[in-house]
Amino acid sequence: MGHTAGEDLEGKTVVYGVTGGIAAYKAPLVARGLKALGVDVHAVMTHAALHFVTPLVMRTLTGNEVHVEMFPETMGSSFEIDHISLADRADLFLVAPATADFIAKLACGMADDLLSCSILATRAPVLVCPSMNVNMLQNRVTQENLDRLKQRGFHVLEPTTGELACGWEGAGRLPEPGRIVQEVRMLMSEHDLSGIRVLITSGPTCEDIDPVRFITNRSTGKMGAALVEAACIRGARVKVVSGPVAVDYAPWAEITSVRSAREMLDAVKDCLGEVDVLIMAAAVADYTPHTYSTRKIKKGEKTAHIELTSTPDILATIRPFKESKVFVGFAAETDNLKTYAQDKMVRKGLDMIVANRVGDADSGFASDTNSGVILSPEGVMYDFENMGKDLLAHRILDLVKERL
Ligand code: CTP
Repeated sequence: MGHTAGEDLEGKTVVYGVTGGIAAYKAPLVARGLKALGVDVHAVMTHAALHFVTPLVMRTLTGNEVHVEMFPETMGSSFEIDHISLADRADLFLVAPATADFIAKLACGMADDLLSCSILATRAPVLVCPSMNVNMLQNRVTQENLDRLKQRGFHVLEPTTGELACGWEGAGRLPEPGRIVQEVRMLMSEHDLSGIRVLITSGPTCEDIDPVRFITNRSTGKMGAALVEAACIRGARVKVVSGPVAVDYAPWAEITSVRSAREMLDAVKDCLGEVDVLIMAAAVADYTPHTYSTRKIKKGEKTAHIELTSTPDILATIRPFKESKVFVGFAAETDNLKTYAQDKMVRKGLDMIVANRVGDADSGFASDTNSGVILSPEGVMYDFENMGKDLLAHRILDLVKERL
């Protein structure tokens, strides 16, 4: 059970190429984000990049010498050939921003500066993050060059759309540093769940009373989002069925948004045939209004009554279709944690249940940490106390992997 958030990249090396586009101003933040993952970062800058960021900034943030010259005037004390030692040292090459000119160079296999020469010489995966004016990006030659790179196995993180520094609106923005770091992390992590198809439900459900009001619960989707990110990073194919949330799910997952327990049941049923693992992290409402009023209900007497009827129990409904799939449930409890969770696990036919305490500020809904216990029919699998949801997500997946 060796996964912790970031721990898997400790000791890995990224050679980070910065080329000369205005988005190079984001390069120091990318370098910082990579360092925060425990990665050893070696920056290589093209001459054009020097107009936008100084080597001093990159050296300070990476803690390593910055490489610029193919033929440096002063040689280091070792007899290493720079472009070969960079090429061999890299576990991953990142180019962000990658200009149209540099992409063209890579597509043609040119090697007339240190960065292009090192990339030609490396056997490591290369992630290219294009950034340029929208018309340069959409120009057929740039698109053909990007296609050629993709066909040769380069990874390309597509630019985002919005206001560009040149004044145009459109595609061509370098994704935010956090997004680039996230992509690097996914590419460099061990894909121990490769080929595994995981369905994760997440967030609350909302049961509408009238166009203005609804019944819901305090779930924010944070635990679900942590599970989605962890499973994607480890190479699983992830589908998410989510109630209304404000959290962002990892960009590699396929998301189906639902509102009510009934809609969640239908969406889960639709996906179930194509998954190996189901993790029901959603906090499904147990009751829904018996009738929905299409008109806003007006204030009346001092007391009001809403007749409620129970929602379908999703896990109980799909139990007959479980077959060899691994089913994981969650139990949010204020008291009798183990007893209630144990009972739910048996009642719902689960392989595992994650019981977490709710009602404390540092556990359960809306919190970044959780406390509780993971149970299987054989007994207690894992106790956790104030554990980050990212780390807990990896622990849950470690235990799921043992059951596959
Ligand atoms: N669950 C479900 N369908 C529901 C309610 C819950 O599939 N209608 C799932 C949840 O996603 C969770 C597990 O069942 O994985 C336990 O949810 P919980 O709300 O704790 O259990 P309930 O059976 O609703 O029991 P109670 O609310 O009485 O604690």
